[in-house]
Amino acid sequence: MSGYRYARRAEILGASVYDHAPGAIVLSSGLAYPPHLPDVVREAMEAARDHAPQTLQYGPLMGLDDLRDEIASFVGEDGVKCTRDNVLVTYGAKSALDLACRVFAEPGDRIIVTRPTYMTALQILRTHQVAFLDVGQDSEGLDADELESKLERLAKNGERMPKLLFDVPDFHNPTGITMSKARRQRLVALAERFGFIILEDDPYRRVRFEGDPVPPIKSIDEAGVVIALGTVSKILAPGLRVGWAIGAKEIVDRMAMQKADGGSNPFAQRIVCDLMRGNKMARHIDELAIEMRLHRDAMVESFAEFLPDAKVRAPQGGYFLWAELPEATDAEAVTARALELGVEVSDGRVCFPNASSGNHLRLAYSFVDAGTIRKGVKALGQAYDDWKETADASSVPI
Ligand SMILES: Cc1ncc(COP(=O)(O)O)c(C=O)c1O
Repeated sequence: MSGYRYARRAEILGASVYDHAPGAIVLSSGLAYPPHLPDVVREAMEAARDHAPQTLQYGPLMGLDDLRDEIASFVGEDGVKCTRDNVLVTYGAKSALDLACRVFAEPGDRIIVTRPTYMTALQILRTHQVAFLDVGQDSEGLDADELESKLERLAKNGERMPKLLFDVPDFHNPTGITMSKARRQRLVALAERFGFIILEDDPYRRVRFEGDPVPPIKSIDEAGVVIALGTVSKILAPGLRVGWAIGAKEIVDRMAMQKADGGSNPFAQRIVCDLMRGNKMARHIDELAIEMRLHRDAMVESFAEFLPDAKVRAPQGGYFLWAELPEATDAEAVTARALELGVEVSDGRVCFPNASSGNHLRLAYSFVDAGTIRKGVKALGQAYDDWKETADASSVPI
């Protein structure tokens, strides 16, 4: 049939973030480091052999009780007080975000996000046809002064108040910033005062290379205004597709009722539960943090050597590096040239909820080893120099 009548959201067939240019060095997305994928052979075998009536059946909407208990004790180590009743197992953190939006967001609702923020979260939020209230960041995370004055102005004008705030407080994607404790406390106070829910997306918390951990926002939430989103994607393997949401029971119960996924893969949940139960997952995370630190160092050092015009802040953990190029730089042109030279990075524009300047790049150091990162950043530096040369040549002298 010709002329399919697509929904507006499906009219444009854009590039997928999961498809990468053949042969290119991939520094564009936070993929797991292949040599460090966990060994799940024993757990998968046991899931099939010993638990088939549970793992090969539709699963309970809330997730397997054993896993919910494991997750409650995992987040309990960071000071989050909850029981299995507060834990909803999902098909990854992104699915948890989508379920939270199904429960809270109506078309036209305002959602607070940082500028920039996690690009896939923006994509999910956009499918719910929300409007963005964007707020900047400083070295302590989301700018609470800016947020407070925007909220006061909306309230004074009698406008629709935001219902949700989405943020990544630890090793923010893309900026790498970790929010201070004082800022977290202030956000909770603002959420209580203005009546919005904080979606705390925290996949990188355990991938810390140095410095002291800051308590999760959820751990300082007495009023039930925070939903913590978690996942094993960055600490075990994204292909498992196991994540969670932790919140007030009445909220997570409602989120569960919005699921249409047959109980979110009980087979993978069983595997994750068994990895969490022993200390296999904890050991795996410790080794991962050592490896990721080497990758981070290689990327930061390579920027100093090959692209000194860029401003970068070394993150204390996580997977991502945010590079600010001189203001006039066209990051789209630089990324296109970089691809020709064999390295894939993201134009920072995709991370902005509303209009943005075009001089940022988002890079991930997770997927390739330190030597390859060096080669990739060298090619990126060359791409930037090439762009600069062309731009200089075409500029008209005054
Ligand atoms: C901020 C953030 N949230 C969530 C995820 C992953 O979500 P999922 O558990 O759905 O794989 C990522 C992956 O890049 C991320 O950076």
